[in-house]
Amino acid sequence: MITLGIETSCDETAVAVVEDTFTLRANLIARQEHLHERFGGVVPEVAARAHVEALNPLLARALDEAGVDVGDIDVVAVTEGPGLVGALLVGMAAAKAFSLASGAGLIGVHHLEGHVWANFLVHGPPAPPYVALIVSGGHTMLAHMPDAHTFEVLGQTLDDAAGEAFDKVARLIGLGFPGGPAIDRMAAAGDPQAIAFPRAMAESGDLDFSMSGLKTAVLRHVKRERAAGRDIDPADLAASFQEAIVDVQVSKTMTAVRQTGVDTVLLGGGVVANSRLRSRMADAGRAAGVRVLAPPPELCTDNAAMIACAGAARWARGERSSLDIGVDPNLRLGV
Ligand code: KG4
Ligand code: ZN
Repeated sequence: MITLGIETSCDETAVAVVEDTFTLRANLIARQEHLHERFGGVVPEVAARAHVEALNPLLARALDEAGVDVGDIDVVAVTEGPGLVGALLVGMAAAKAFSLASGAGLIGVHHLEGHVWANFLVHGPPAPPYVALIVSGGHTMLAHMPDAHTFEVLGQTLDDAAGEAFDKVARLIGLGFPGGPAIDRMAAAGDPQAIAFPRAMAESGDLDFSMSGLKTAVLRHVKRERAAGRDIDPADLAASFQEAIVDVQVSKTMTAVRQTGVDTVLLGGGVVANSRLRSRMADAGRAAGVRVLAPPPELCTDNAAMIACAGAARWARGERSSLDIGVDPNLRLGV
């Protein structure tokens, strides 16, 4: 079975072709970062227009790279939400048109389920249950997964998402957009213990997150140092901030593991590309005797391979979407 995946929920136009759920035949991404950089964040209208321009040529290239024709596609899997409404609509319209013209089936996929399913692209799903930590530009969430398609939300951020915090702090210290990769690189040369930033709710026992105290602490530190005429070492600041975020993610995830008794953790979302989060989670997993899976970094950030994979699996379970499926910018995940 050949599945075409389409993902346009934010600022990446992405198309992929997957065979038999887990085998990647093509995985293309047209990035728009250069269009949003000068605004310091994603501008929804700019993103939607860029998707319109990029999508058709990308579709043609993906089919070409996969060595398939339009008629070979059995199913089109498309992100139905959450995300930017205009951006989502571009991908959804293309998916419906493709399905109608070619006779391929149609299946809508939750963006965050896609992020978790990126783990399965290489080896397929290990035996459930799992705890999933989903950390992206728009979401920070822990979920218990009794099976590979069911999400029971255990906790989530009360304010900013982790990726958003990375992006805001990067902007504050002049590292550009997107901030996550820039802080990751800068932190490699810094001392994670240089500045003692707060670990919000790390040991509170509940599984919600809050980034606002950390963000304020970074802002206050920068203002204080500047007012005192002292130089700020961006590497130390990046490393200390990153360590504070990572500490909380790791400790909450391991609390969720203890509370649920599962022995497999799935990491998903753009922030999982972070080198420190990956190594600290791997260490914590080893220490607790728990398996921790993370997609390769290039499959952590938005891509269509994860959407094709999750969609193909839902299709194989007999699920179908009709041509009147809509997009939902606030689509909820699970229960
Ligand atoms: O999953 P994603 O590509 O898009 C959303 O669904 O939001 O996540 C994007 C977020 C951005 O905030 C970006 O700064 C962050 O992921 N990110 C990182 C790294 N690479 C991307 N954050 C920390 N370290 C990284 N290496
Ligand atoms: Zn995403």
